[in-house]
Amino acid sequence: MSKKRTSVHGQWSSRMIFILAATGSAVGLGNIWKFPYMAGENGGGAFVLVYLVCIALIGVPIMMAEVLLGRRGRQSPINTMTVLAKDADASPNWHLLGWVGVVSGFLIMSFYSVIAGWALAYVLEAVSGSFNGFTGKSSADAFVGHISNPGVTTFWHTLFSIMTAVVVAKGVRSGLEKAVRILMPTLFALLILLLGYAINTGYFGQGLEFLFNADFSKLSREGVLSALGHAFFTLSLGMGAIMVYGSYMPGKSSIATTTFTIAAMDTLVALVAGMAIFPIVFANGLEPGAGPGLVFISLPIAFGQMPGGLLFGTLFFVLLTFAAWTSAISIIEPAVAFLVENRGMGRKTATGVVVGLAWVLGLLTVMSFGGWGFEFEFAGAKKTDGIFDILDIATTNFLLPLGGLAIALFAGWVMASGDTADELGLGEQTGGYRLWRVLVRFVAPAGVILFFLHSLGVW
Ligand code: TRP
Repeated sequence: MSKKRTSVHGQWSSRMIFILAATGSAVGLGNIWKFPYMAGENGGGAFVLVYLVCIALIGVPIMMAEVLLGRRGRQSPINTMTVLAKDADASPNWHLLGWVGVVSGFLIMSFYSVIAGWALAYVLEAVSGSFNGFTGKSSADAFVGHISNPGVTTFWHTLFSIMTAVVVAKGVRSGLEKAVRILMPTLFALLILLLGYAINTGYFGQGLEFLFNADFSKLSREGVLSALGHAFFTLSLGMGAIMVYGSYMPGKSSIATTTFTIAAMDTLVALVAGMAIFPIVFANGLEPGAGPGLVFISLPIAFGQMPGGLLFGTLFFVLLTFAAWTSAISIIEPAVAFLVENRGMGRKTATGVVVGLAWVLGLLTVMSFGGWGFEFEFAGAKKTDGIFDILDIATTNFLLPLGGLAIALFAGWVMASGDTADELGLGEQTGGYRLWRVLVRFVAPAGVILFFLHSLGVW
């Protein structure tokens, strides 16, 4: 029953490159910028524990499912879902899953490139020595000053959008693949270096305690949902990015081992980033719950004090930008592939259209930090919120888990088990296949549904 299709967009040159590219997609702002501040806002250890459980029981099986669907369909997620639904004699409406993914992709890209723009701007700050003598207060002031200036942030948002477009326009082999080959290994090396610095701050133990000592009284309902949402965000799941990368995967490589490797590297990077950042936060009397500014405020203090800080600070923000870059290309690839397939557009035009739209939408996030925040009452407390929070929550806590749920249901219940076993390269009777099937049919869907009910307060 094996159906062998080929992708019109090309293929990764090896299994190793697929791993690098998918890891490049997974490892991004989510690991280095978002994970630490979310853990900080949600009290640390308990959040981290729930997040790790979500990765293992929900993220990994759904990631295998998403790669599998992509490789079997070998097209953009919308068309992949159309052909796979036809193969399975299922409703053609499954292709709506691809559309939801494209919409999520636009929303995510719109804020992602603004935040990546902050990182880009901080490269310049670092190299010009602005971090010298930073204290907690002066670092926070500098950060707030930067993000609240829409003219400046729009400039960097534009630059990052162009960088992303250039890579995607070049295509799978000479664009996406070349970028990840160089960028990923450098990033790993630099993180290890920062970890070394954090160990020497004298607050390493306190950092570990914060990250790994689970106190569930500190974890709210929203915190639990955020941990699940973040598991999807950090693994790039639920919107077709991993599906489209899977559609460029060589036919023979094992989906299970590649997926484990990707998830393990992604988790490792997030944990190392947390272990590097929290000691610096505590050593400088900063608030772990400081929110989106956490990394941009805490690390510059360290760079401003350490020997060689000019070099390391510059390198760090260069690499944060690189990590974001290799992720951003995967966020827009599903929509670009679709336009090329169905509208007969050239890759360059398609990329221009997609990046252009996301850029315009990104201006909302620019303004969200640049003065359009609004105050509202929530559970009796006054909160300031902005469009960024709405976009972030709508995608991370809602659309991605929903997309992931649909992927799990399709792979687990709609596709014939002979077909999924064939694509995974596992015998239907093997323990590994059976375990995956139980996870993808029952555990992962039930997990997502329970989390939704929990956040609604039903359970
Ligand atoms: N995983 C990336 C990060 O952690 C972001 C990302 C890339 C993403 N592609 C995605 C998030 C697809 C959701 C869906 O920064």
